[in-house]
Amino acid sequence: MFLKVVLPLLLCPFVFLLMSSAAMEDTGFIYNGFRGAKVSLDGEAQIIPNGLLMLTNQSKRQLGHAFYPYPLHFKNLPDGNVFTFSTTFVFGILPKYQNFYGHGIAFVITPSRALPGARPTQYLGIFNESNNGNQSNHVVAVELDTIKNSEFSDINDDHVGIDINGLTSVSFAQVSYAIDQSDNRKNLSLVSGKPIQVWIEYNGVEGQMNVTLAPIDVPKPHIPLLSYSRNLSPFMEDSMYVGFSSSTGSFSTSHYVLGWSFKMNGPAKELTISQLPKLPRLGPKKQSKFVTLGLPLIGLVLASTVLTIILFIVRRKRRFAEVVENWELDYGPQRFKYKDLYTATKGFRDKELLGIGGFGRVYRGVLPTSKTQVAVKRVRHESRQGLKEFVAEIVSMGRLRHRNLVQLLGYCRRERELLLVYDYMPNGSLDKFIFSQPKVTLNWSQRFRVIKGVASGLFYLHEGWEQVVVHRDVKSSNVLLDSEFNGRLGDFGLSRLYDRGTDPKTTHVVGTLGYIAPEITTTRKASPSTDVFSFGAFMLEVACGRRPIDPQASSEENVILLDRVFSCWSRGKILETVDPNLGSDYRVEEMDLVLKLGLLCSHSIPTARPTMRQVVLFLVGDIPLPESSLHGLSESGLAFAHHDEGFDKFATWQPSSSLEKTSTTQLSLVTDSLLSTGR
Ligand SMILES: *[C@@H]1O[C@H](CO)[C@@H](O)[C@H](O)[C@H]1NC(C)=O
Ligand SMILES: *[C@@H]1O[C@H](CO)[C@@H](O)[C@H](O)[C@H]1NC(C)=O
Ligand SMILES: *[C@@H]1O[C@H](CO)[C@@H](O)[C@H](O)[C@H]1NC(C)=O
Ligand SMILES: *[C@@H]1O[C@H](CO)[C@@H](O)[C@H](O)[C@H]1NC(C)=O
Ligand SMILES: *[C@@H]1O[C@H](CO)[C@@H](O)[C@H](O)[C@H]1NC(C)=O
Repeated sequence: MFLKVVLPLLLCPFVFLLMSSAAMEDTGFIYNGFRGAKVSLDGEAQIIPNGLLMLTNQSKRQLGHAFYPYPLHFKNLPDGNVFTFSTTFVFGILPKYQNFYGHGIAFVITPSRALPGARPTQYLGIFNESNNGNQSNHVVAVELDTIKNSEFSDINDDHVGIDINGLTSVSFAQVSYAIDQSDNRKNLSLVSGKPIQVWIEYNGVEGQMNVTLAPIDVPKPHIPLLSYSRNLSPFMEDSMYVGFSSSTGSFSTSHYVLGWSFKMNGPAKELTISQLPKLPRLGPKKQSKFVTLGLPLIGLVLASTVLTIILFIVRRKRRFAEVVENWELDYGPQRFKYKDLYTATKGFRDKELLGIGGFGRVYRGVLPTSKTQVAVKRVRHESRQGLKEFVAEIVSMGRLRHRNLVQLLGYCRRERELLLVYDYMPNGSLDKFIFSQPKVTLNWSQRFRVIKGVASGLFYLHEGWEQVVVHRDVKSSNVLLDSEFNGRLGDFGLSRLYDRGTDPKTTHVVGTLGYIAPEITTTRKASPSTDVFSFGAFMLEVACGRRPIDPQASSEENVILLDRVFSCWSRGKILETVDPNLGSDYRVEEMDLVLKLGLLCSHSIPTARPTMRQVVLFLVGDIPLPESSLHGLSESGLAFAHHDEGFDKFATWQPSSSLEKTSTTQLSLVTDSLLSTGR
């Protein structure tokens, strides 16, 4: 009796416990670096020798997947409820060019690690245009998204979101982390190039998912960034894969995962930060804080007492010291006294600062004797190598005179500094009037006049003088407006001479991303026809009110302006690209001409581009634009240099858009131009 009835009754809870724990999955794994790790990779994903999991390499519009190779049981089968799980990983995103990147990384839970039909770019390698949002996807993801896609209602280009079956996040936020218990937060940039740790925790009983991020050297914040309450059971299947997906768009970006830990039914094991592989360095080499700050500080403290006394005496003498060498005596009239420039700019006061360019600051000044207004550009130079040659070029440039060029008045030389004195342009640079919409804008007739003016200035540089002068950096931020809103091309003084018939001495590639002709990648030679290419990009930006590259464009097709204009033109709808701020207030035939000429100048074959002489004739209407020349255009005939090897120099050069972020108010005379000499 006892054996038959009571024993089974007593044992029953045991058996039940045993059974249910067998059904409970408690899979877990940890990768402190991925060297030799078993992960299933596809697309561009690879494990590089130091143990980094690289999801995308430098290719454009590609995707990469990395999954734990075995499916996991996510559901407690009797009731079909999704288990509690938790995961943590460290990632790093390194764009090849500052300010141009995309699209991000996602942690994904999916029924199939093949992710069939998935597309790169804004689809992050998870979905495509037809299955995005479909309930039968059964995909749950956490996206680390570096591009704002308005079609998915993204808030900005630096956000985290929880995605269920589609890219329109169900919960999202600007990337930040709590720095204290009262939820004061600090913003974090996903593309900083520094490792960032992510924690994702799902509580299956309460149906709540938390997402927390922090820099790798900060302990896990107490308050999560996202806390989303929703039972995931209806959206998931029992057998699912976990892993990462990543994609690139128009710009090379490397997406890495440094370490990853996952646990079903429990907290994921902590990663050992010290064992994680190192990310490659982003940008130029930087010395450690100790070397750059610590050591000099210690040295300074010791030496400063003695030095201050000596310096005080010497500085008074040195303040106005300048360097004059024999070879400069010929340049007498063009040479300014440092003392005069110092007085003119009130001691280079910040209040007189007009803008900061790639090679130095530009100040407003009033010359003490003549009382004329000038702009003084301070160009730093490290070595004296080539300086003599450069000054000679600069001075001879001072003899160039044209109403559409900013006049160079002269120079002054100091120890590590060259000061260039230019005519002052009261209305600042053209880009401010076109891109700071809708505050300031120029109407079409003003814009057309500026285009014609700049064309004639560039024509003068190419053919109006005894030597061919190649500008090398034609763009709207290098076009300044005088008091009558005439466009004047600035900074040609910094381009190097290109003698007729002789080989150019060019070794560095000079220019700005988006305006550089494709052949420069291979030939490394700037020529009048590369200027024509830049001028084409310039015409298009002025007519369309958009920069040649707009990483934040609403859709992938609109990132590259040239592609957009070409595609509208080939559909016979070229006027769809006109700057919306102009409304319909423009002359159709002029606009049509400028846009088509912009396309023609952007031809990837240099000889197919018109010369500046022809461009001027087209613009003034002396000769009609031959429509037949446009029919030769094909998408492959349009290209521009941006990502090919050997362009690393650009990584450290700020495109004008980033300048605008830093000094919008003072950006009236931006001359972020490029000087390849003087060092
Ligand atoms: C990126 O990966 C693809 C395919 O794995 C390869 O063809 C390509 O050469 C790689 N590109 C670079 C820059 O490593
Ligand atoms: C999208 O992906 C699905 C598979 O999920 C595939 O059947 C479909 O053909 C893809 N659509 C496109 C337009 O690539
Ligand atoms: C969702 O996907 C399924 C299977 O691929 C397909 O049969 C269905 O038509 C899709 N639904 C929508 C709304 O696209
Ligand atoms: C963080 O970013 C948000 C959104 O871009 C912004 O509104 C906020 O001011 C930023 N906070 C700090 C402290 O910079
Ligand atoms: C999410 O965060 C909240 C607030 O810190 C906490 O109360 C909750 O337990 C967390 N949930 C999970 C699933 O970790």
